[in-house]
Amino acid sequence: MSIRTRTPALTDPSAALRREPAAGTAHGLAHAKAILFGEHAVVYGSPALAVPLHGLGVQTDIRNSPGAETRIESQLFSGTAHSAPETMGPVVAGLQAALEATGGPSAEVELRIRSAIPHSRGLGSSAAVATSVARAVAALRGQVIDATALHTIVQKAETVAHGRPSGIDAWAVATPAPIRFQGGRATRIEVGRRLIFVLADSGHHGSTAEAVSGVRALHEAQPARINAAISRLAELTEGAVDEMRTGERDSIGARMLEAHSLLADIGVSTPALDALVDAATAAGACGAKLTGGGLGGCVLALADSDDQAQCLADSLRAAGAPRTWTTEVKAT
Ligand code: MEV
Repeated sequence: MSIRTRTPALTDPSAALRREPAAGTAHGLAHAKAILFGEHAVVYGSPALAVPLHGLGVQTDIRNSPGAETRIESQLFSGTAHSAPETMGPVVAGLQAALEATGGPSAEVELRIRSAIPHSRGLGSSAAVATSVARAVAALRGQVIDATALHTIVQKAETVAHGRPSGIDAWAVATPAPIRFQGGRATRIEVGRRLIFVLADSGHHGSTAEAVSGVRALHEAQPARINAAISRLAELTEGAVDEMRTGERDSIGARMLEAHSLLADIGVSTPALDALVDAATAAGACGAKLTGGGLGGCVLALADSDDQAQCLADSLRAAGAPRTWTTEVKAT
């Protein structure tokens, strides 16, 4: 998937971030993700479908700093790992897990993290940062960590970030292709026809942990209603996996609209997200829905052409989105 925005400086943020590391420095990369179908239902064992957002990336540079305290420099915090605030907990946990997995848990290092992924927007920022940190640690030590070991490290960081993550974010930010995820297992899916999406930021942060615990509380209070929504979300996902292969855009769009209304029923939409879905529909999108945990974050709209994607982006901005990105899932 490539990603474009109307702001030239952000045409390919991950490319802009990518720098040649200085001598003695190693680096690790990761990208954002969007969940196309199955968020929340995936927490209950249902399948979900996610696509990579290659144009929104994160790079971590790392070097050894023996005798000095481990330091982290990032857009959110700069200082010693020891003095990092709670918001940096997932990064510190990911770093520690990566150091342990590569055989030197007590090493002192210096990290520089540069991310173009907006955080708390349902785009997998915390998992992507942890993935780039783990890849950087492995590169510094000349080791290759396989996908399963990487996933285990990133899940430790995600557990600090979200409590009990399903694991879809950790796979999606590390896999360069669309995936179907269920029960801890990710498989690549085929894409029969190019798909163009417009991603619109609602301008509001969304807490995945809060959204997941809200759905859990509803599930305990009204199991039959929430189980029915989860089952239907699972059917929508399975159908969409088939339609990605055959390239049935209109049908995928209709599924997106139904998924959004089910997500609203289980309490994770907001008036701002609903308004963006309505604006996308009014502008002729094949479909639109919130993506990720919800309670803020982004809406994903499916366009039927590049020109229409431009119209959708204009309409979504006019409806209040402070920024939009146009992204593409290439046919495989
Ligand atoms: C978050 O990107 C997706 C959720 O389903 C949570 C999870 O899978 O852990 C909301």
